[in-house]
Amino acid sequence: MSTTLSLTRPDDWHLHLRDGDALRAVLPHSARQFARAIVMPNLRPPVTTTALALDYRRRILDARPHEGPGADFQPLMTLYLTDRTPPDEMRRAREAGIVALKLYPAGATTNSDAGVTDLRKTYATLEAMQREGLLLLVHGEVTDADIDLFDREAVFIERVMQPLRRDFPELKVVFEHLTTREGAQYVQAADRYTAATLTPQHLLYNRNAIFLNGLQPHLYCLPVLKGEEHRRALVQAAVSGHPRFFLGTDSAPHAAALKEQAGGHAGCYSALSALELYAEVFDAAGALDKLEAFASFHGADFYGLPRNRGTVTLKREPWQLPQTVPFGEATLKPLRGGETLAWRVVQ
Ligand code: NCD
Ligand code: ZN
Repeated sequence: MSTTLSLTRPDDWHLHLRDGDALRAVLPHSARQFARAIVMPNLRPPVTTTALALDYRRRILDARPHEGPGADFQPLMTLYLTDRTPPDEMRRAREAGIVALKLYPAGATTNSDAGVTDLRKTYATLEAMQREGLLLLVHGEVTDADIDLFDREAVFIERVMQPLRRDFPELKVVFEHLTTREGAQYVQAADRYTAATLTPQHLLYNRNAIFLNGLQPHLYCLPVLKGEEHRRALVQAAVSGHPRFFLGTDSAPHAAALKEQAGGHAGCYSALSALELYAEVFDAAGALDKLEAFASFHGADFYGLPRNRGTVTLKREPWQLPQTVPFGEATLKPLRGGETLAWRVVQ
């Protein structure tokens, strides 16, 4: 069995970098592994305009390591779609190098209160995005109180994805952090304008893990982990070689204290060992030969961006992930913190 694996440098197509001290704490972890990342715009206040995104991009570039691995990391900027995003902002956004807009249904997740209340309110903007070639990244959950939490994604397909695909057939849409078999089947059957990202936590764990040995707040993320049949369907999609499934960690740092309190925050911090965690999933499925395309080719191809140059090397070598990492004044507990991982990035 081979003990090292070299891949073209991968990209993370869904990442939360935050701002300020938090940004400076987490950015080196992603930059060490990934050449580029799609940076989510759910800051407080959200990144809703081209000008705000360009300022944020500058702060991210300033937080990069000055030399060595990660010094050339490139953030790919997104805007936060609201009911009032002006259609004429789309041309400015495209000219400034912004690649996508993120749809958060209002109230769906962390910092989403400025999100979209009714997709029809955004139709003129979606039209402009389709014209300009900007992608729409969706948090695919309905938020109605009468829908069971575990059915939010399946209902989103019926109520939002189907009309969206019908009305904007050439708008590229990424169904972010897919969590269900229904979602995987939907994307598999869709045409070349629909893709999906898959996170390490949804590939590694099912919802039992949240409740094993007492409540596990560090496995609470949104969308919530689903049952084992769903996890298996996601693994199958990831290792299938299908070009419209790709890597997106949804690494979402929150201070440990804020996750461990009542009303704890949602989000798993996976950036510290993201590629290693995906390697474990592909290894367990006997599909290490499919990891490179999933991590390094499919996303770039779908976004219409060049594939990266250079490589990253993974070694089969047990190592212990730290239990905590500094996070400004606070601490952060990484996914799998304190546990032994089977693969390690050795550059
Ligand atoms: C994300 C965050 O904390 O920003 N949390 C999460 O559980 N994934 C928001 C999101 O992507 O839904
Ligand atoms: Zn996210």
